Order: sequence, then structure tokens, then C-alpha cells
Amino acid sequence: MNGPFAQRRTVLKGVALAGVAGAGVAGCSTESKLGHAENPTPTAAVELGAADDIPVGGAKLFREQRLVVSCPARGEYKAFSAQCTHAGCLLEKLEGTVGDCPCHGSKFDVTTGEAIHGPATVPLPEVPVTAEGGKLIAGPRA
Ligand code: FES
Repeated sequence: MNGPFAQRRTVLKGVALAGVAGAGVAGCSTESKLGHAENPTPTAAVELGAADDIPVGGAKLFREQRLVVSCPARGEYKAFSAQCTHAGCLLEKLEGTVGDCPCHGSKFDVTTGEAIHGPATVPLPEVPVTAEGGKLIAGPRA
């Protein structure tokens, strides 16, 4: 007389386990982590090449160094982290002085760091930059 009861319990246990496994799969996605930069700003000074490469009134993206540099006036430079303040993706391209994040569509004014289109709301952190001997050097000095 034990047979039917034992069978029923087994079935219920199986359903419960399937439910837990299903929730685990649905809640786990690595997609949002793609393209994220690991370090937001340089931890030591980095050379970015010729200062003249930045057009006056324009900007240039240095993806490898995770920086964006603008030139508001001849001989004046401003650098910001090129890592989006929303979830950390690296800005992909510039349209003039507007930097685009490929992950969720945020846009930044790279002359001020300001987030001009969400979801990001926090400005890009400014990074010290100088032009020495015609070369741009960004990041903290020793
Ligand atoms: S990480 Fe840039 S918009 Fe989300």
C-alpha cells in the first residue's frame, strides 16, 4: 500500500528541483559584462602621442589607454576616463565631442565629462593631462 504515496513524493520533489534550476538560469547572464574596462583611469602617467593629433575644438579617444582627450583651445587639453559611469563599458566612438557608450546608449560631453544621455548620470572622472615637448602625458605623476 506504500507504492502510490512513494511515487507521488518523488514526482513533487522533481518539480521543485526543476523550478530552482530554472530560476538560476534565468537570473544569470554574462552579456552585460562584455566590453567592460577593468581599470577606470591610469594608475601611472601614460604617453598619448603628439598633442597636435587632437584638433582644436575637438577630441580624440584613446581606447587602449581608456582615456578621452579634448582640446578646448590651442595648447589646452582636458582628459577624462573613457569608461562609462553607468556599468563600466569603454566608450566606443566620438561624434565630434560626444562620446558614445556601446552598452546601453549613454552619451557624454567629452569636453566636460558630463553625461548628456542616460542611463549614465554621473560625469566621467577627469584625469590630469599636460603637453610636454609636444607630447601628451595623462594620469597621475609619481
Ligand atoms: S555601461 Fe555605458 S550605458 Fe551602460
